[in-house]
Amino acid sequence: MQTIFSGIQPSGTITLGNYIGALKQFVELQDEYNCYFCIVDQHAITVPQDPTQLRKNIRSLAALYLAVGINPEKATLFIQSEVPAHAQAGWMLQCVTYIGELERMTQFKDKSAGKDAVVAGLLTYPPLMVGDILLYSTNLVPVGEDQKQHLELTRDLAERFNKKYNDIFTIPEVRIPKEGARVMSLQDPLKKMSKSDPNQKAFISLLDGPKQIEKKIKSAVTDSEGIVKYDKENKPGISNLLSIYSIFTGKSISDIENEYEGKGYGDFKGDLATVVVEALEPIQKKYYELIDSPELDAILDRGAEKANAVANKMLKKMERAMGLGRKRK
Ligand code: AQP
Repeated sequence: MQTIFSGIQPSGTITLGNYIGALKQFVELQDEYNCYFCIVDQHAITVPQDPTQLRKNIRSLAALYLAVGINPEKATLFIQSEVPAHAQAGWMLQCVTYIGELERMTQFKDKSAGKDAVVAGLLTYPPLMVGDILLYSTNLVPVGEDQKQHLELTRDLAERFNKKYNDIFTIPEVRIPKEGARVMSLQDPLKKMSKSDPNQKAFISLLDGPKQIEKKIKSAVTDSEGIVKYDKENKPGISNLLSIYSIFTGKSISDIENEYEGKGYGDFKGDLATVVVEALEPIQKKYYELIDSPELDAILDRGAEKANAVANKMLKKMERAMGLGRKRK
């Protein structure tokens, strides 16, 4: 069986974008692959976090992984900071990464833009992500489109390390969904939807209630034409909403366009809100059953144990390859 690794940052409550771009793929793939799914809390601290809220977000994300359908009997679910090999591997990989490569990362440019002071971790976190992936001899990384550049760096660093030291890393492939790879902000459809967007109206979180969802969809920015038609370039707002509708209903975009011919955005947005509310209802029900349960801790404990065992073996290989520590019998 081939191996999958992917992670999500507990930097807020996950959005429809994270769900469509990442989690939905995870659920679809878990039967065919040996999967490791991670709550990458060490990545989250590259931007300011309130410690109490971060801890809440970590647990909440764990419960959401399970609520959307990750089966802990099949997949290993764990918290990054509970597997110290990640930070250790991240350091070693920083030492084979060039600063120029990190400065070219668009996510670094976006997140540092307009800030007076930026912590070093925001620049150097891609090698930590590379370590996350390489520690598990990962074959495939399912992610949204925004992570493509980080995955290219992962392949480059793995090849560089293999050539320079020893051929120990598997070179992973990236898997980006055909539809929904980049769900856009509801308030600025030229920007991707993000869970840490300060404007709450820009995203729908998986835990938003029906009223909130309706309000956010109704106030989503569209255009003044009033025709429900997919045209990403000229009508990015309505095109984004059409994609979301299509993904949740399984209907093709052209069928939806036909259905709403002669109707305005109001009707379409109202129906989209119903579709989203109905899709999230079972997820939220499962979430509230799990969030305070001892079962959730037991799953995370088992996940950490398994991940530590696998990651530590690769870490030893990395140390040996780089000449760190002592030779032991
Ligand atoms: N808008 C999106 N559309 C499709 N996929 C998306 N992903 C993120 N946003 C979208 C995918 O979700 C997974 C987890 O992402 P992450 O938490 O590691 O960080 P991110 O990509 O930076 O996501 P956010 O929501 O924008 O978080 P913040 O606000 O903290 O920066 C990844 O597979 C990602 O591609």
